[in-house]
Amino acid sequence: MKGVLLSGGEGTRLRPITHTGPKQLVPVANKPVLQYAVEDLKEAGITEIGVVLGNKGREEVQEFLGDGSCFGVDVTYIVQGEPLGLAHAAGCAQEFVGEDDFVMYLGDNILNSGITDLVESFRSGNYAAGIALQEVDNPTAFGIANVDDEGQVIQLVEKPDDPPSSLALIGIYAFSPKVFDVIENLEPSWRGELEITDAIQGLLDRGNAIDSHVVKGWWKDTGRPQDILDANRLVLQRHPRSTEGTVEDGADVTGHLDLHETATIEAGAVVRGPVSIDAETTIRSGTYIGPYTSIGPDCTVCNAHVENTVLIGDTTVTSNGKIVDSLIGRGTTIGSADDLLPEGRRLIVGENSNLKL
Ligand code: TTP
Repeated sequence: MKGVLLSGGEGTRLRPITHTGPKQLVPVANKPVLQYAVEDLKEAGITEIGVVLGNKGREEVQEFLGDGSCFGVDVTYIVQGEPLGLAHAAGCAQEFVGEDDFVMYLGDNILNSGITDLVESFRSGNYAAGIALQEVDNPTAFGIANVDDEGQVIQLVEKPDDPPSSLALIGIYAFSPKVFDVIENLEPSWRGELEITDAIQGLLDRGNAIDSHVVKGWWKDTGRPQDILDANRLVLQRHPRSTEGTVEDGADVTGHLDLHETATIEAGAVVRGPVSIDAETTIRSGTYIGPYTSIGPDCTVCNAHVENTVLIGDTTVTSNGKIVDSLIGRGTTIGSADDLLPEGRRLIVGENSNLKL
């Protein structure tokens, strides 16, 4: 079985962060989202992975994954270019997949409990596809599956007005190569994309059996800034890691702390975990770092209050105002406005930013 990992797309909902890089490399608990998917595939015994690239962030993804050997997998790159839909992306992988079954994993999704159960369930029968499902509160906003008592899919509906169930399709699918015949004959939807739900419905219409698996634990699509913060909180909750860096005498640290061996928490700083702090970052005296915060590499935080926030990296914070529930892009400087006259906030802000002052 092979893996097809989708790393194309535009990432418009995650602007301005995605103006300068692909959303699949945004860190959650100081690890790029895409790496979680690679690890899930590997854990399920899938080590031959085709990574589908769009126009945006191709080089960065290739630089990060390389040939896959750093992650114990074997990576082949497949260029999709324009994001013409999930089924189009799958179709681009046909030559790579050949006659094998494959798992298609959206590179911006994170699952709590991996994909092994989904893969085993798909393999246990003669299925043309297997879909991962999760109960959602707002089924009108999702692709929804109607399944029978054995978990076989009867019907799929995209964003239904009258949902037949509250089981939504999430971003992981298993397929037999039969799906390529269906994709070849698909027409673009109203939004101009080849839809994966149409491909699965096409398999059903041709009389194929489709398996489903309701995933345990949480699942997150990290498409919007709030989703990154939610995923960061969920991952920090589940991964208490060790403190390897320097915590000076006089620093006040409680809760789980993941501190890189080259990071420092200086005397007079307060850290309340779970918190993750990456390489070469220093938390200076007078700073409070609150729960569910991830601070990337090469940051300095001084006299500041930061909580439930992701600092991607290479950032200096010296503001004494509270920073909460924030996603801060790389290379940012956040200072204090106290010494600015006339009174007011001085802003240098990129396109499509979202500020709450
Ligand atoms: P989406 O989140 O549906 O699309 P997007 O990445 O373009 O984001 P936005 O809506 O904010 O502009 O994509 C889900 C995943 O699938 C994501 O990892 C990107 C990937 N993808 C492709 O690789 N090719 C495609 O044609 C599409 C539509 C998505």
